[in-house]
Amino acid sequence: MQPADGTRLYSRPARLFHWVTFGFVAVMVPVGIIMTDRGERNIWDATTNGLYSGHKLAGFILMFIVAARLIYRLAKGAPPPEPTLTPLQKTVSGLTHWGMYLLLFGMFATGWLGISLYPALDIFGLFSLPAITGPNEAAAGRVLTAHKLVAFALMGLIGMHVAAALYHGLIRKDGVLRRMWPARS
Ligand code: HEM
Ligand code: HEM
Repeated sequence: MQPADGTRLYSRPARLFHWVTFGFVAVMVPVGIIMTDRGERNIWDATTNGLYSGHKLAGFILMFIVAARLIYRLAKGAPPPEPTLTPLQKTVSGLTHWGMYLLLFGMFATGWLGISLYPALDIFGLFSLPAITGPNEAAAGRVLTAHKLVAFALMGLIGMHVAAALYHGLIRKDGVLRRMWPARS
């Protein structure tokens, strides 16, 4: 149901996809940083291995969630932009949103390719993720460096995106934040 004041909300599935993605990324970034730091300091204990397994498995699962989200988005579209936005704001927010989708797939591609090349496909000693290419440790190093750089770019865009969402919600007090808020209105 849409609120009576004319604000057009994202659908329930679109909001669920958005906040599930946020939950995964909010955990995966600190885990990625901590596990890499422990690896660089040569602390290869059960905690480090568990963090690596958890990060790889969560990233693999999130790839399917974001693919489903993108298919849903392309099939169903989004509500028309909040009517008080300037043309520039509409363009910048559109570029930011599609940029985040692109960089999320950049993370999945570099992560999966990196662990296939290394190879480091094992998950908690229980099973292996499928490899998308044969081993090449030197190439793995370059691809995982790209993974780190794409992560920085994604964090930059997310930072801008969250700042804009809070500006709309707390300062402009328009309908933008409510469009994606998990509660109904
Ligand atoms: C949105 C998804 C993802 C995010 C936000 C993310 C984030 C990160 C971050 C912040 C790091 C630390 C980088 C550094 O400090 O060097 C990292 C490292 C890593 N990630 Fe991801 N990641 C994602 C998906 C994946 C996927 C899908 C895989 C594999 C299936 C993966 C495998 C790895 C590995 C193996 C490392 C360690 C790299 C190294 O040891 O140099 N990540 N990730
Ligand atoms: C991992 C972090 C996040 C990612 C990757 C992300 C990604 C996205 C994407 C891709 C869209 C566009 C949806 C579409 O049209 O398909 C979107 C919309 C939106 N997001 Fe986020 N988001 C994140 C975190 C947040 C947070 C923390 C907030 C609030 C503080 C937020 C507020 C919003 C709002 C209000 C919209 C709707 C914008 C509009 O009406 O045009 N997002 N987000």
